[in-house]
Amino acid sequence: MQVAQVQSFFDPDTSTFTHVIYDKVGGHGAVVDPVLDFEQSGGRIAHEAADKVIDFVKAQSLTIDWILETHAHADHLSGAAYMQSRIGGRIAIGREIGRVQKVFKSLFNLEPDFDTQGQQFDHLFDDGEAFAIGELTAVAMHVPGHTPADMAYRIGDAVFVGDTLFPPDVGTARCDFPGGDARQLYRSVRQILSLPAETRLYMCHDYPPTERAVEAVNTVGAQRAHNIHIQDGVTEDEFVARRQARDATLSMPRLILPSIQVNIRAGHLPLAEANGTVYLKVPVNAL
Ligand SMILES: [Fe+2]
Repeated sequence: MQVAQVQSFFDPDTSTFTHVIYDKVGGHGAVVDPVLDFEQSGGRIAHEAADKVIDFVKAQSLTIDWILETHAHADHLSGAAYMQSRIGGRIAIGREIGRVQKVFKSLFNLEPDFDTQGQQFDHLFDDGEAFAIGELTAVAMHVPGHTPADMAYRIGDAVFVGDTLFPPDVGTARCDFPGGDARQLYRSVRQILSLPAETRLYMCHDYPPTERAVEAVNTVGAQRAHNIHIQDGVTEDEFVARRQARDATLSMPRLILPSIQVNIRAGHLPLAEANGTVYLKVPVNAL
């Protein structure tokens, strides 16, 4: 098994990990889940988080083949389009993204020609599709549950799990967004946890208790032994009951409204209005 090299970056504002995965210094790489900074009260976008990743890519002299989105995030704006404009790479997401685009095209009353078959992305991955990053071989895995379009990416000996598993003491991703399904998440997670015990799992998020540092990576073995929601022995029905009870207590993520509007456009902002200004909408009493 090829050993993928990984550098992880944590965005404390949204508790999101961005990962750079590459075969060797001077070789080829991919960026998973880049973040665009957004200061909601002033409506201001910035590129501090993305620029840290770009600086690393340049320092390692990497050719970026892919910018991989695990799903249409609801907690941060995607830095994919900005990153592509600086360091290239094809922006990709799962084939089922159209289902998410349809829901939110309707909610946000988007322009009639807004495409709901994922054409904003450079590539849509099918479940099980093989691809390459330089010398690393990779497989896209459809892991629905958090949303219908969630993907994980198995690259060399590492898996970028997206919003499925969180670190073992935090548990799993919520399943109460449109098209979410706790039963599907259980099956998706068990698929990831059927990989060899030493498989490295790279997290999309961490929400650590105050006494520990953020954890970018753990293993299949650690998750099977310790995950508070879905360790070995937890049945599908037990998981679903636990997940639904927890979801009933959660409020909407702080940045869900601006995030979705950008992320279903592959990280591009909506078109500017006649005065040249870009607007993000707030639907009232509609979500
Ligand atoms: Fe998410």
